[in-house]
Amino acid sequence: MRAFLPNGSLRAKLVVQLLAVAAVLAVALYFTVRSTADRAAEAAQDAILGAATTSIAEQLRATEDGIEVDLAYATFSMLGAMGQDRLFYRIDIAGETVTGYSDLPPPPARPASLAPEFYSSPYLDADLRIAAVARSIVVGKGPVPVLVLIGQTRQGQAAIADSLANRAALIGVGFFVLAVPLSLLSAGSVFNPINRLAEAVGRRGPRDLRPVRHPAPRELAPLLGALNGFVARLRGALSQTETFIAEAAHHIRTPLSTVRTEAEIALRQSEDEPTRVRLRSMIRGVEASARSASQLLDHAMVLYRSDQLERVEVDLSAVVRNVARAFEPTAELREVSLIVTGGDGAFMTQGDPLLIESALRNLVDNAIKYSGTETEVRIGLSREHGMVQVKVADQGRGLSGASMAQLAVRFTRGGNVGDVVGSGLGLTIVTEVAQALGGQFDLREMETGGTCASLSLPAL
Ligand SMILES: Nc1ncnc2c1ncn2[C@@H]1O[C@H](COP(=O)(O)OP(=O)(O)O)[C@@H](O)[C@H]1O
Ligand SMILES: [Mg+2]
Repeated sequence: MRAFLPNGSLRAKLVVQLLAVAAVLAVALYFTVRSTADRAAEAAQDAILGAATTSIAEQLRATEDGIEVDLAYATFSMLGAMGQDRLFYRIDIAGETVTGYSDLPPPPARPASLAPEFYSSPYLDADLRIAAVARSIVVGKGPVPVLVLIGQTRQGQAAIADSLANRAALIGVGFFVLAVPLSLLSAGSVFNPINRLAEAVGRRGPRDLRPVRHPAPRELAPLLGALNGFVARLRGALSQTETFIAEAAHHIRTPLSTVRTEAEIALRQSEDEPTRVRLRSMIRGVEASARSASQLLDHAMVLYRSDQLERVEVDLSAVVRNVARAFEPTAELREVSLIVTGGDGAFMTQGDPLLIESALRNLVDNAIKYSGTETEVRIGLSREHGMVQVKVADQGRGLSGASMAQLAVRFTRGGNVGDVVGSGLGLTIVTEVAQALGGQFDLREMETGGTCASLSLPAL
């Protein structure tokens, strides 16, 4: 019954319906043939019975001492053609049975002259078909009514009808058997356009949000219309998100950096110590909110882009060098030396370069900001088991026993952060990027002290 549930298979439902129609047609064929065959066999038997009865009736002759009955062998051999059937006859003259079975059932009404009357009636243990012919013969003083009956069992007729009906049943079964593959085929052809449409939509790239213009049967037009409406709304929502991310970054960062610059100028000009303390804490606050805002937007960007993942060839070593160059001033300010090792040749992977860059930026940012002065941050590239790997190792404070799984939760910061600013989104971003690109991320404290973060991505 699963085929009839709303979430069952339409194809199965259609096949079942087609087969049901085929079965009904096959049964109807059987019964039509059966009743036609019955009638035809009966008509054939009637024709022979009628001829025989009429012929006997016609052979009755008036003689001087009564009526002479001549039961010709030819008459009965004609009836023998019907197979193994038994014959019964009765001849009544003037209402008296003169020969044959006197209890053979008479016709319901006396038949018209010489035209045989046919009827069926049970007799002894059998079902008989009987022909009755009436005539009158002039004997002596006047006409005498004569009635001739011949009854025959119906086995031969039934055998003919049965054999025809059996053949019809065989044809019906054959028809049904043929209907099985045909209905499967026709159900398949009905659903082909739907499958082709689904394939066409499925083949599209994640960024392909053009309306679907695939040719489809008229019945699919409402579905196609709804799908295109949905695609259009999605396109609108996505472009709004994209615009929002881009504009928000600009509209938040710019005023914040203005506030920061102004506060720094005020700090330089101020002689009053309490004001200087306030200004310093203000600068720290502005810095923290700028970082938070940029991390939040980064996170939004990562979620947005991993949703509609772009897959292009990316050289991981190029991304590493770019990120290292971008962090050079920050590292110098904190007296941390940033060293890139093992970056010879290309380390090709596939994915969205912006996502990879965002992950690396977060790793390098963490390594620098959680390190002390005059330490090293080493960024190493390597190939392993079909993956390209970048390791960021620092000589900083370590993880104080916290695990990567704990630290990677959104907005979660470790107990080791001290007065280092942060929003707790960096490792979340890295984990999401690794997941989106089919890679792995690991963060552990090294035995020699310091932390080592490693990001592996599938090599091309
Ligand atoms: N290189 C590192 N050294 C020490 N601790 C780290 C390092 N990287 C990450 N952590 C710990 O993991 C936490 C989560 O990191 P992250 O998600 O980048 O947030 P945030 O850096 O904004 O605090 C940090 O708060 C810190 O406790
Ligand atoms: Mg961080």
